[in-house]
Amino acid sequence: MRFSVNALATIALELQSGIGHQDRFQRLITTLRQVLGCDASALLRYEARQFIPLAIDGLAQDVLGRRFTLEGHPRLEAIARAGDVVRFPADSDLPDPYDGLIPGHENFHVHACVGLPLFAGQNLIGALTLDGMSPDQFDAFSDEALRLIAALAAGALNNALLIEKLESQNLMPRAPGAFEPQPGSQMIGLSPGMTQLKKEIDIVAASDLNVLIDGETGTGKELVAKALHEGSPRAVNSLVYLNCAALPESVAESELFGHVKGAFTGAISNRSGKFEMADNGTLFLDEIGELSLALQAKLLRVLQYGDIQRVGDDRSIRVDVRVLAATNRDLREEVLAGRFRADLFHRLSVFPLSVPPLRERGDDVILLAGYFCEQSRLRLGLSRVVLNPAARAALLAYPWPGNVRELEHAIYRAVVLARAAVAGDDVVLTPEHFSFADQPPASAAAVTAAPGTAAVKPLREATEDFQRSQIAAALAAHQQNWAASARALGMDVANLHRLAKRLGMKA
Ligand SMILES: Nc1ncnc2c1ncn2[C@@H]1O[C@H](COP(=O)(O)OP(=O)(O)OP(=O)(O)O)[C@@H](O)[C@H]1O
Ligand SMILES: [Mg+2]
Repeated sequence: MRFSVNALATIALELQSGIGHQDRFQRLITTLRQVLGCDASALLRYEARQFIPLAIDGLAQDVLGRRFTLEGHPRLEAIARAGDVVRFPADSDLPDPYDGLIPGHENFHVHACVGLPLFAGQNLIGALTLDGMSPDQFDAFSDEALRLIAALAAGALNNALLIEKLESQNLMPRAPGAFEPQPGSQMIGLSPGMTQLKKEIDIVAASDLNVLIDGETGTGKELVAKALHEGSPRAVNSLVYLNCAALPESVAESELFGHVKGAFTGAISNRSGKFEMADNGTLFLDEIGELSLALQAKLLRVLQYGDIQRVGDDRSIRVDVRVLAATNRDLREEVLAGRFRADLFHRLSVFPLSVPPLRERGDDVILLAGYFCEQSRLRLGLSRVVLNPAARAALLAYPWPGNVRELEHAIYRAVVLARAAVAGDDVVLTPEHFSFADQPPASAAAVTAAPGTAAVKPLREATEDFQRSQIAAALAAHQQNWAASARALGMDVANLHRLAKRLGMKA
């Protein structure tokens, strides 16, 4: 038997070494795969009824971005329920979450599969999965040996989770046993830029500071705002959303601060504004750069004195609101141009967070692609959605001016196209399913071209070109109907009008 005390010792030692959790888990998984001779192994964390891959070996990299819900994965559900080693029969008709994700075996379905649930006391905290291409591959290993491995891994994982909790300074009180999602755990990405951002979110979330989130369109600013709120003591109260770009000047003040009956024509009753709704919670002011100078002055007042006045009322109301603001403009530039108040800018940007553009996140593109593949699989009820190697390469080569949102739409669109072309519910995405596949886009050339080449454009201009072409395409596809186009583009219609105006597409 290949499995020995030596092998166990190796595994135990690997769990002691390594500089960080990530490194340690990676070594564990790699060692396991070698020692047990499997084709694929993975360590997953269990949280909020889903399994989150932490380290993988022998699997396509996009698995790291996938989130496996119990509902969508009967095998994982069986592991979660089992309480002990699970050996799936080679002819099990439960789909394997890794089908088609073992490189070199894209068109084979997995044969041997063992799942080891990991516990801390009574609580399920994760799982180890072992997969092999030949049906009897794991027969030689006893349940006792596998339980021992699970116990070692569970100890290491539990330690890591405890340390993570301490490090995140997340010291707010919670009901014992309350479900505790990690803030930002739905934010996919392991690149240095995203790791840094998540660290900053952890730190600033717990403070009560106002935060200015900036980043290009579609980078995930709203997701960052949600993570900040969820990671703060205010999470028990509401996160109220207000899009400043969608506010006609005439109603903006009342939206923010409320009004009293008779304050203006049409004010037929008292109404509270977003600030009151967000009392003791968080107010997310999206596209803050679009706020008029007059309202900027009023907003500044609230931030300074913590009280508001409803329109038409001279009494003031005290509110306790944390403001998170987002913008895809360069607010410094707006300040210099006199379009944004410097004092408001300084108050908001005590702790600025910048969300990096997707093109600077390296392999996160693949992780995110995996995440969206898994989401579309669930949404469309498909048995699997995978990328072939050429598709992966194409996604990596493309510069993504529309960032994560563009990638999300590209994957959904590709899945719909690919599904239409096959009979079954088994979808393999190839470059042909993406519209940038046949014409390596000019912008991709721009990114790799040397500086000074004619193809290089200032990023803002390139981004705007791209926005123009997307809007034009949406309008064409929807018979120039703005509401339908806005829906297709995943934005608010008022926003779309404003953007189109700014891009010179509309008078
Ligand atoms: N790191 C991430 N992991 C998973 N999904 C993400 C990530 N970043 C963004 N998304 C998804 O991409 C889409 C766009 O993100 P979001 O709306 O937060 O961007 P934004 O920066 O607010 O864009 P805009 O400037 O256009 O308002 C959303 O569907 C969001 O859930
Ligand atoms: Mg947004």
